[in-house]
Amino acid sequence: MSRFNEVKERTGTRSVKWDMTEKLFKSNEVLPMWVADMDFQAPQAVIDALTERAAHGIFGYTITDELVEGTIYDWLKKQYDWTIDTKWISYSPGVVPSLHMIVQALTKKGDNLLIQTPVYPPFYKVIEQHDRNLIQNPLIYQDHRYEIDYEDFENKIVENDVKAFILCNPHNPVGRVWTEEELKNMADICLKHDVLIFSDEIHADLVLSGHKHVPIASISEEINDKTITCLSPTKTFNLAGLQASYVVTANEKMKKSMDDTFLAQGMNMLNTMGITALEAAYKHGEEWLEELLKVIEDNKNYAVKYLNETGQIKVIEPEGTYLLWLDCTKMGMEHEELKSFMQETAKVGLNDGASFGKEGEGFMRMNIACPKATLKEGVDRIVKALENRR
Ligand SMILES: Cc1ncc(COP(=O)(O)O)c(C=O)c1O
Repeated sequence: MSRFNEVKERTGTRSVKWDMTEKLFKSNEVLPMWVADMDFQAPQAVIDALTERAAHGIFGYTITDELVEGTIYDWLKKQYDWTIDTKWISYSPGVVPSLHMIVQALTKKGDNLLIQTPVYPPFYKVIEQHDRNLIQNPLIYQDHRYEIDYEDFENKIVENDVKAFILCNPHNPVGRVWTEEELKNMADICLKHDVLIFSDEIHADLVLSGHKHVPIASISEEINDKTITCLSPTKTFNLAGLQASYVVTANEKMKKSMDDTFLAQGMNMLNTMGITALEAAYKHGEEWLEELLKVIEDNKNYAVKYLNETGQIKVIEPEGTYLLWLDCTKMGMEHEELKSFMQETAKVGLNDGASFGKEGEGFMRMNIACPKATLKEGVDRIVKALENRR
């Protein structure tokens, strides 16, 4: 049996996804298909490396040495043909903590920061919690596909004297993997108006066939000089609980400000297990990742087919991520009614579309990174609940 078919019990492991079902969805019968982690075991090489490290039994302060840096360098080179200087690397427990630090380090209270909505909810928080102002450049939704509204992008930047743009690439939740041309168009506008780019590329490795991830900073030296890129093996290899990520910043001044901000919070190292997992995943995880992408593609095709066949849900065809953005507007329900339909009638635990912004009303987000049996169960519950509605 493929390792991706095994339904592994996660309840009782303090899993956010599985052990909070009752609390979040008011019933233990709800099938959790929400938060972005996977119901798959990490690559065997990662499990082995962690087991070996755990057996050593001493878990003192741990360094991220040149071997770890070399592993990151090799990964970025091989996966995206991006040649970095290892001096550009900083470490962080997560991409969300990095975004908080970056916003604090490189913008000031009252500054205007731009995001493309609907988008990953912490982007709103990262701006608002530090008393920066939120400027929104809604994506254009047409023919069940999302595009960039460049005119609005530039107008919003100019009208509001925007200082920084937080980019999500690949985009959560709409599943777009921005092309080099799209990225270049946005970057050119940013360069023209002196806007910094904070690029969240945590889903970079989760790109479906026919698409390619381009790190925005890799496009040109000028863009690289204005960009901070947040990356991590945690989404790719299902290591989120190990909290190990990194940030790539070529601009020395910007990097120093960010590093100083991290230090001012006493954050100067990663945890031992996180480092061990990062290294093992990047060194030995490629084959596992190839297999994973096939599984996600297959799950995607299954969910798209059966959900679209209902005629009441339209799945936005993702180019990347394992998150499906479901357009449920044809169901003709108010948003709150839609949420309770999914939770109470279909008994599936999805992410509330409106939590990604007001453009997400009438939408839900579904995590399909699970064994086929779990996916079938989730899709079937929705399909049956819709049939019974007729
Ligand atoms: C776009 C995006 N950024 C960041 C994160 C979380 O990153 P971390 O766990 O490293 O803080 C997620 C998780 O779903 C995400 O989708």
